Amino acid sequence: MTDAARDLISKAMVDAGDPVEFAAYAPSNIALSKYWGKRDRSRNLPLNSSLSISLAEWGSHTEVAPSESGIDQVSLNGEVLDMGTAFASKALKFADLFRAGRAQPLKITTRNTIPTAAGLASSASGFAALTRALCGSFSLSLSEAEMSLIARLGSGSATRSIWHGFVRWDKGRAEDGSDSFATPLDVTWPDFRIAIIPVDVGPKSHSSRDGMNHTVDTSPLFAAWPDQAEADCDFIEAMVREQNFTALGQRAEANALAMHATMQAARPAITYLTQDSWAILERLWAARKNGLEAYATMDAGANVKLIFEAQSQDDVTTLFPEAQVIVPFAG
Ligand code: ADP
Ligand code: DP6
Repeated sequence: MTDAARDLISKAMVDAGDPVEFAAYAPSNIALSKYWGKRDRSRNLPLNSSLSISLAEWGSHTEVAPSESGIDQVSLNGEVLDMGTAFASKALKFADLFRAGRAQPLKITTRNTIPTAAGLASSASGFAALTRALCGSFSLSLSEAEMSLIARLGSGSATRSIWHGFVRWDKGRAEDGSDSFATPLDVTWPDFRIAIIPVDVGPKSHSSRDGMNHTVDTSPLFAAWPDQAEADCDFIEAMVREQNFTALGQRAEANALAMHATMQAARPAITYLTQDSWAILERLWAARKNGLEAYATMDAGANVKLIFEAQSQDDVTTLFPEAQVIVPFAG
């Protein structure tokens, strides 16, 4: 059966030159309406659409170059990785989609300005930056929508990291995945803020992929998720377009908690949130009763992210002095 993303790469590679040195950057992103569950695991197609905000300078810097030593090399944050690591093998497997058996040894050098595998979406920025760098290195002239389609094969959330700002990944319907890629929203919201409240920035115990597959396979609550998540995504997109912060924040927080509820009902349960994550949520909810306009969202990790507007920034950083504030529309 055909796979649109793989076909696109094969066709583009017919005219490709030998790889040259090419560097790219992609921001990480936080979903305000989450992707959780695949309808097709081999093509990495989602059961529901999702919508995110990109994290400006928090992301991945990746360079792809021909390897002078004649063998593949992958380094992360200044350290050359053992080729047996999952990180190196996943990056090279992705590069193989482009090389398709050709003897083109590559040097992949990447640096994350976010913690790796901690629920801060390094897979999103990592595969988006790698897609951009590989397309550049092989001199492929592909559109950003096509790069988003290809990045999906590395990680679903990477579809959205091709752009800054608000981005929607439409789940698509086609069996070959040809309509499952992301699109940026033409919305600029200079006062929009994100804060990361670090709880645990070490690697998590289950990857997002394993967590979502296990939830789909075993959670009796999952049946309710795809339709609800689709409705949440449409509503959140409308609220982003209207710049209705309260309605957006309430729905985004509810969407994240519903996703975590599906995992807690999995058998055995998965809980990425720790007591510290819940303590942050309790503190936020108490402050909200006293008028603070900020909402939380959590992914496959213990860290909590807050969204708020510029006028609430001092209150947020007073309540959470450890908060790292991101300005997504700074430049
Ligand atoms: P996270 O919450 O950080 O996305 P995941 O476990 O979902 O955690 O994904 C982490 C995986 O993403 C890594 O093991 C690696 O395979 C991939 N990844 C992270 N950063 C990069 C990068 N800069 N380049 C290529 N792949 C990356
Ligand atoms: C909870 O994109 O990491 O962050 O497609 O299997 O690589 P794979 O999963 P991934 O999952 C992200 C899950 C999430 C929600 C989201 O970012 O939409």
